[in-house]
Amino acid sequence: MRVLSGIQPTGNLHLGNYLGAIRNWVRMQDEAPCFFFLADMHSISEHIDPAQRLTNVREMTAALVACGLDPERSVIFNQARVPAHAELQWLLNGIARMGWLNRMTQWKDKAGKNREGASVALFTYPVLQAADVLLYQPTHVPVGEDQKQHLELTRDVAIKFNTDFGVDLFTVPDPYIPKETARIMSLRDGTAKMSKSDPSDMSRINLADDDDTLSQKIRKAKTDPEPLPGEAAGLEGRPEAQNLVGIYAALAGTTPDAVCAQFAGQGFGTFKPAMAELVVAKLAPIRERYVALKDDQGALDAILIEGARKAAEVAHPTLLGAYEAMGLMR
Ligand code: TYM
Repeated sequence: MRVLSGIQPTGNLHLGNYLGAIRNWVRMQDEAPCFFFLADMHSISEHIDPAQRLTNVREMTAALVACGLDPERSVIFNQARVPAHAELQWLLNGIARMGWLNRMTQWKDKAGKNREGASVALFTYPVLQAADVLLYQPTHVPVGEDQKQHLELTRDVAIKFNTDFGVDLFTVPDPYIPKETARIMSLRDGTAKMSKSDPSDMSRINLADDDDTLSQKIRKAKTDPEPLPGEAAGLEGRPEAQNLVGIYAALAGTTPDAVCAQFAGQGFGTFKPAMAELVVAKLAPIRERYVALKDDQGALDAILIEGARKAAEVAHPTLLGAYEAMGLMR
């Protein structure tokens, strides 16, 4: 078993990232060799001020360590320091099909009506993601539901490469998407996912929010006037209530059924303060570690430089194998 996953270093880490992905990364460190990276090469698909990009990478590194990723046990790095990612992407551009990329929902959503004006990097984003994964031969890729389609494309690229060149070079990886936290939804709209790009900060819980902000966001979260049912099945058709109960259960380490049993018959006037207390208790220690780390540029860069050295070592044989299989090197 080998684990790999990545995150875009844009803005704050939010509860969707944490429950959907990072908490599982932290747990998997005990089970297998792990590789986790900041997708700074992906971030060029949109224009960001260069100084801001560097800050984002360091801050996201601090956030991951604050959540419990341990640079002694896991390889933590940023893509830009491991040129094998860009090299393998170019090789895989010969494998991926325009039709596959045209079908990607992230491309359709982000480019919107302005396809002509979108960057080429936004279109070929999933090919870089395939390179990220395939370089390290992982068996498990822990992600949220929104990355499933990109990982299916990664599998298609691996299978087509192995078949076209008659080799057994790439491990075909499995996404690892625990059902309960696969999609954490916005606090303002239970049908939209919690996202960095939502213009309303009230829609998401950021791991760096202070206690008052956390409580206020939960107090103002959209709900309905009905009391909580005795079991989770009764939340069907109530997306906001379902989301809050799901978040509560995930943070408390229990099930939505147990949360419903605990609050059965009570309204959100009772549930929300209990939820605010739980969220503050779980997130405050992470925030404190984050604040202590985030300006220590030297320590954060040292983590990334050492991680990149280890990552490059593991990536090298696979990259060489790809050059050889394609007749570019022998
Ligand atoms: P990104 O940066 O958007 O998100 C990082 C991780 O958080 C998960 N996530 C969620 N999970 C549940 N509910 C939500 N509301 C929610 N929002 C985000 C994402 O599914 C993801 O697991 N393209 C990737 C980064 C990437 C990558 C890779 C991932 C680049 N190369 C290779 C895996 C393997 C991205 O933009 O994730």
